[in-house]
Amino acid sequence: MPVNLKPHNTLSLTQSCETYVEVNSKQELTDAVTRVYKSASPMLILGGGSNVVFTTDFNGTVIKVLSKGINVTEHSDHYSVSVQAGENWHEFVQYCLQRGMHGLENMALIPGTVGAAPIQNVGAYGVEIEKFCHQVEYYDYTSETINVISALECQFGYRDSIFKHALRNKAVITEVVFKLPKKWIPNLDYGPLKHLEADDIGAKTIFETVCSVRQSKLPDPSKLGNVGSFFKNPIITAKQYVELLAEFSDLVGYAQSDGSIKIAAGWLIDEAGLKGFSIGKAAVHSQQALVLINLGGATGEDICMLAHTVMDRINEKFNIQLESEPRIIGSQGEVSI
Ligand code: FAD
Ligand code: EPU
Repeated sequence: MPVNLKPHNTLSLTQSCETYVEVNSKQELTDAVTRVYKSASPMLILGGGSNVVFTTDFNGTVIKVLSKGINVTEHSDHYSVSVQAGENWHEFVQYCLQRGMHGLENMALIPGTVGAAPIQNVGAYGVEIEKFCHQVEYYDYTSETINVISALECQFGYRDSIFKHALRNKAVITEVVFKLPKKWIPNLDYGPLKHLEADDIGAKTIFETVCSVRQSKLPDPSKLGNVGSFFKNPIITAKQYVELLAEFSDLVGYAQSDGSIKIAAGWLIDEAGLKGFSIGKAAVHSQQALVLINLGGATGEDICMLAHTVMDRINEKFNIQLESEPRIIGSQGEVSI
């Protein structure tokens, strides 16, 4: 019997899948993945559904990861924390904060699961998961082996990792190990945190500030369907940046360590006059232009048409090609937008 995926994706798209399976332990997860892979039916691993766009019904099995468990080992200078893939990311951040294990507070309120977090190297407010990720354990269902790789081997980049490349369509993340140093250094680099005083700041203040900034900027998916930023912030050359600045003097860009510049895609979309622009029931959010929203009853097609229109307008106006951040899911699996 087809199952409606609306409760399982934060865009609230009403597409369905042929079979829906929930797994509550690592063993159940690896068993289910092996079974579906061998059956040759299309398979989609799903965590919180906060970074997927269903363009149509999914003609296969969705495996929802709900495996739970957190194990802490104390060392002289750090804590080692092993977390099962199905743990909720934000609850895990709170868990660490409550136990005096600091570092993840800048990434409070990112929706989704711990297992999905390494895939796009989640990050916010100046910190990405790669800073505290020690190892990632994954199950390779093509060889039926459990493997553990180091953070270096994860090849983390901006919204990127090996799980989007060499390990795509063969790995399911089962567990993530974090290394949280006991010597805590607050990270106050990102704009809205800069006003905090490094000398007397605590991790709890950063956590609360991040939560409040996020709640003021980003729509709550339980009220207005969305997947957070719909596009990555494009990275351009310094030369391209200088050329654009000559025409758009208040262009927002951040210098990268290799000399390239990361441009705020939200600013580009805003400048192109697209805030509030809609197609069908899909719209560009009127407060944060990088977020596309479901006004109620939008289809995945509406969302993708809107995304294409935004991409075309940005290309025409700034000669910059935007890339989508969420994974676009067609009837058999991931497709390109
Ligand atoms: P899902 O959407 O369920 O899955 C995403 C992809 O990962 C899919 O391709 C899925 O097949 C795959 N996948 C999921 N779990 C596994 C697993 N265990 N093994 C292998 N593959 C798996 N992201 C940021 O980086 N920073 C932010 O600040 C941020 N803010 C957001 C705010 C809002 C309001 C929303 C809705 C999203 C935001 N996101 C942000 C995006 C999203 O939260 C992250 O990408 C998150 O890691 C997705 O987790 P998930 O469990 O929901 O993944
Ligand atoms: N801006 C505008 N108009 C807008 C939106 C933004 O001018 O409509 C400008 C802002 O004024 C600001 C700049 O763009 O100067 C950056 O905006 P913001 O600080 O809101 O961050 P962002 O670049 O839009 C990124 C991440 C978010 C993450 C925040 C905080 C990406 C694609 N997005 O957003 O991640 O939470 O920074 O670190 O990198 C996500 O990935 O889903 C996500 C929400």
